[in-house]
Amino acid sequence: MAAGNNEVLSIQGLEVSYQTDRGPVRAVRGVDLSVREGEILGLVGESGCGKSATLLAVMGLLPFPGKVVGGNVRVNGLDVLKLSKKELRSLRGSTVAMVFQDPMSTLNPAHKIGAQMREALRVHGLPCTQDLLVRLLQEVGIPSPEAVLGYYPHQLSGGMQQRVMIAIALSCRPKLILADEPTTALDVTIEAQILDLLRQINRERGTAIALVTHNLAVASQFCHRIAVMYAGQIVEEGSVEEVLANPLHPYTQGLIGCIPRFQKGVPLTPIPGQVADLSENLEGCAFYPRCAKREPVCEKTLQDLLDTGGRLVRCQRYGYLEYAETAAAQDWGNE
Ligand SMILES: Nc1ncnc2c1ncn2[C@@H]1O[C@H](COP(=O)(O)OP(=O)(O)O)[C@@H](O)[C@H]1O
Ligand SMILES: [Mg+2]
Repeated sequence: MAAGNNEVLSIQGLEVSYQTDRGPVRAVRGVDLSVREGEILGLVGESGCGKSATLLAVMGLLPFPGKVVGGNVRVNGLDVLKLSKKELRSLRGSTVAMVFQDPMSTLNPAHKIGAQMREALRVHGLPCTQDLLVRLLQEVGIPSPEAVLGYYPHQLSGGMQQRVMIAIALSCRPKLILADEPTTALDVTIEAQILDLLRQINRERGTAIALVTHNLAVASQFCHRIAVMYAGQIVEEGSVEEVLANPLHPYTQGLIGCIPRFQKGVPLTPIPGQVADLSENLEGCAFYPRCAKREPVCEKTLQDLLDTGGRLVRCQRYGYLEYAETAAAQDWGNE
């Protein structure tokens, strides 16, 4: 997608690899992605598709033995991959914040909420008065914030813990929040509340959000734009309405088939098989073995991401096949 000035996040050709005993695992294989000011982008795909690796690379937080081996990442115009550790830390505290899946493992169980918030603010060089802490907790809808500052994490529910994490993320007034499965550990009613809170932050402050989720139903309710990721690559991207109404890639169609519906007689259709093994050398379309619409050409030929009028899709059906069909139709017409 063409780079615009209002992009808070711009990723180009990102390659992430984990060096393992079995050889390299290519978790991210040439991802281009952007998030504009005020936008909520959903990065969707099954577990193991490289969603977390993509976000962690942006934050310079890839755990060993993960490494960025190619590409380019810009946050607010800054070339993230060239920043020193100190500069990265400062970027994390000022422009971009991350919210993870499991608040209990992110919060320190041995310290009170107030102390942990103070520490986060101190690291970011922000003033940490009691008034500010109370206000931050109020902003994320925590009742009795003064009392909560004196609680240990285990004294709060999962939803409240995640609100605390969001309060810490918001303390630096970020332009961009990277949220990696922020509601996966929560039950559905609390999930809805946390998503509402994030949406409110987006609406009221214009904070851009990249939401990683394996749940297309969540993304469809929450995001403006969706990028579907499979086996380390983007396979489809477009506005949420267009992707849901007219999914082009068979993988996206498969994910939509997995969303439970309440209408009678609409069965769930799981996608057969498993996510491709990223330690293998994937030559053609990684979805080929699981694809209901595959053609022989898909096995060995990797399709580029095609722009079909604002919609991006990586499928031979919209590349080679459509071209071949058109060409065949023209040949036939000329006879
Ligand atoms: N520490 C690690 N060592 C080796 N491979 C890893 C490690 N972490 C993740 N991977 C591999 O990287 C790929 C992408 O993982 P991840 O980014 O966590 O996917 P997602 O967030 O979409 O579930 C997977 O194949 C996974 O097995
Ligand atoms: Mg993940």
